[in-house]
Amino acid sequence: MHTASIWQGTAGETVFPPLQGRVAADVAIIGGGITGVTLAMLLAEAGRSVVLVEARRIGEGSTGNSTGNLYEVLSEQLYTIGERWDRSVMGEVADSRREAMALVERVAGRLGDCGFSRCPLYLYATAPAQIEVVEKEYEAALQLGLAARLEEGATPVPSLRALILDNQAQIHPLAYVQRLAQQIASPQCRIFEQSPAVAIDEKMHSVHTAQGSIRARDIVLATHTPKGIYLVQAEMVPRREYGIGLRLASGNYPDGIFWGMGDYRHSVRSLRAGNDHYLILVGEDHKTGQHDAADAFARLEGFARRKFDVGTVDFRWSAQHYHPADGLPYIGASHGSEVHIATGFGTNGLTWGTLAATVIADRILGRDNRWAHLYRANRLLPMKAAKGALEENLSVAKSFIRDYTTRPQTALDGIPVGGGALVEVDGQKLAVHRDESGTLSALSPVCTHMKCMVHWNGAERTWDCPCHGSRFDVEGRVIEGPALAPLARKPLPE
Ligand SMILES: Cc1cc2nc3c(=O)[nH]c(=O)nc-3n(C[C@H](O)[C@H](O)[C@H](O)COP(=O)(O)OP(=O)(O)OC[C@H]3O[C@@H](n4cnc5c(N)ncnc54)[C@H](O)[C@@H]3O)c2cc1C
Ligand code: FES
Repeated sequence: MHTASIWQGTAGETVFPPLQGRVAADVAIIGGGITGVTLAMLLAEAGRSVVLVEARRIGEGSTGNSTGNLYEVLSEQLYTIGERWDRSVMGEVADSRREAMALVERVAGRLGDCGFSRCPLYLYATAPAQIEVVEKEYEAALQLGLAARLEEGATPVPSLRALILDNQAQIHPLAYVQRLAQQIASPQCRIFEQSPAVAIDEKMHSVHTAQGSIRARDIVLATHTPKGIYLVQAEMVPRREYGIGLRLASGNYPDGIFWGMGDYRHSVRSLRAGNDHYLILVGEDHKTGQHDAADAFARLEGFARRKFDVGTVDFRWSAQHYHPADGLPYIGASHGSEVHIATGFGTNGLTWGTLAATVIADRILGRDNRWAHLYRANRLLPMKAAKGALEENLSVAKSFIRDYTTRPQTALDGIPVGGGALVEVDGQKLAVHRDESGTLSALSPVCTHMKCMVHWNGAERTWDCPCHGSRFDVEGRVIEGPALAPLARKPLPE
């Protein structure tokens, strides 16, 4: 299945060279998503020299595969923060996110055409069991003085109760980071694409790519989840989520951010790109490395066809998010490390990533930041969240043991063209893929991060690790996640 996000299909391109040779800067930023590019802007504005390396093209990570919505609340609902922490933390979350949204608005105003607009957000229940969720969120919004009201019948999918929150926003997330990168690139702020960092030496203050290296006083892992082994990885759940971009036969597109709660959790918005108009539908998330991605696309499309007058489905994509155990992102230095990290954004990371950039910039510049303490990456978990983290670690341990003790059932000749499977050959487990010409190739199925076993993802033709979300292509190269090294190639018997 060909997957490309609607943002990739409706944005331009960036062309920065790969890093070659040795360079030095005040700050090395690894990762060119909204976190890395915003941080590069803030540091360059403050007079620091920056080198940013991006493994692929700017914005091609989760930023360019998101839904492009910006909001003060959270997709898991703000009231859950009040339940896990307390009301004041809930207020700080909304305040800090509002501040980050205002920064995006200012930058978007300067950049020009990157689809920024203010709009309402609708949270609505399509099943009776979800009415309580909507009402609790309404109560939370009222407590914080947000511009919220309850209404019925204002949603694109029939609903039982809807909360409307005014003055939220949308952007074209890929156009935003591309334009920003193009605007800030200068001799003082150097940007390199197609330059995956393959080693990070914290003691030597150096970052290495295949053909170059950076020496920098500060190193920032703006890689969505930090590369290497960090304690926060044990507190996060990696999840994949699916998106489709379609045209409606009626041409009747709803304006706003629409979050449906019920038998399906889905996010709906529209996008106008030149003369084209699309409906975007996002949902069907599941833990990375588990479940069949093709099924998820089929369910999402089935839902779209039942609820909307679908003309054509033009885009299909999926991307990853990392859910923190206590509902808050991890920003700053992790336990026992001076490298700066920014992760645990869930599906709220366009705003969290922008906020993380301001917190890390202030940390590097030696300035106070009023949010740094709340989101510090080395915080202790509150009791209610510790239970969730423990359960997640047990689930990772169970999957680890199951994968090592279960014998794969597929034989080599059972792997279809374009497919992949774990196969036992001469007593050894291998990750085997059959390409379009029918040729088989094998990799070690042992994830290079912390040795869990990868699973085949049939829709995206990748090997995905269920433990902390590393993903590898059929050649074994790292696509995303904490792993730095590729899967080892293995010979197959004739
Ligand atoms: C389906 C979906 C919908 C979402 N919708 C929304 C939404 O509407 N609103 C919202 O706020 N959030 C949303 N999110 C979450 C949001 O997209 C992310 O949290 C956010 O984009 C993270 O930004 P980032 O810059 O930290 O990471 P990314 O955008 O993933 O950027 C990290 C970059 O690091 C690069 N990288 C990785 N490893 C290396 C390496 N070794 N060397 C060099 N570069 C490397 C990657 O290629 C990538 O470009 C959504 C997420 C998903 C999955
Ligand atoms: S991502 Fe951690 S073991 Fe694979």
